[in-house]
Amino acid sequence: MKGIILAGGSGTRLSPLTKVTSKQLLPVFDQPMVFFPLQTLIKAGIREVLFIVAPDHAGDYLNALGSGTHFGCRFTYEIQDKPAGLAQALSLAETFVGQDSCMMILGDNIYDHDFSEAVQQFTSGAHIFVKEVDDARRFGVVEMDENKHVLGIEEKPEQPKSNLAQTGVYIYDEHVFDIIRQLQPSARGELEITDLNNLYLAKGVLTASVIEGEWIDAGTFESLFKAAEFRRQQVCQN
Ligand code: DAU
Repeated sequence: MKGIILAGGSGTRLSPLTKVTSKQLLPVFDQPMVFFPLQTLIKAGIREVLFIVAPDHAGDYLNALGSGTHFGCRFTYEIQDKPAGLAQALSLAETFVGQDSCMMILGDNIYDHDFSEAVQQFTSGAHIFVKEVDDARRFGVVEMDENKHVLGIEEKPEQPKSNLAQTGVYIYDEHVFDIIRQLQPSARGELEITDLNNLYLAKGVLTASVIEGEWIDAGTFESLFKAAEFRRQQVCQN
């Protein structure tokens, strides 16, 4: 399975910190933010990783990450010209992924969870990972029945149908790029990951599991601060 890290976007919610650098290169205690999703992929057993980056910061990513040798991996980079949505960013990975399956992780998502079992067990369709949260309106919100079957996903709804957030890791089979071609831009002009996952749901091949441990989307000042504290505790324990 191939790995993809989304490190594009404009990071406006963290302005002015993101005026001269990319959100996913900001420090989280002792490491650049993007090291965390990278370590999550490595822990899951993935060694071939594509970084999707914005044009103005591409050189910074090369400097921070290099060829991948240092991490025991092989890195590839693609430029996303404009932040046209998570599914549009994923579409740039088509040549890199080929006929393989892929695991995509958002460059601002920090996890405790070990995804290696999910990677090993994945065969086809799409798989998402959910987590109970207090502030569901910040996220894609997943409605599930008592048997953990997904009923629907809504992107940042005003009135969430559950407190289960769709977190920032997604596993897709080799059909994902054909399915992305069926998507239409949303009201905010982006190709949405939630619409992609709902298309897999409509085909009856979307599964979900609940993750364990801490999960932080470090895209706001509060959550960035929380991420640094989480990392500080990890470092101090060792
Ligand atoms: O964190 C989980 C949430 O991530 C999900 O619950 C939502 O369903 C999903 O839409 C997403 O919401 P966010 O509002 O947090 O997405 P954000 O715009 O922060 O983008 C997530 C990451 O992807 C971030 O590291 C920037 C990168 N990105 C974003 C866009 C829109 C790109 O690389 N390219 C893009 O075009």
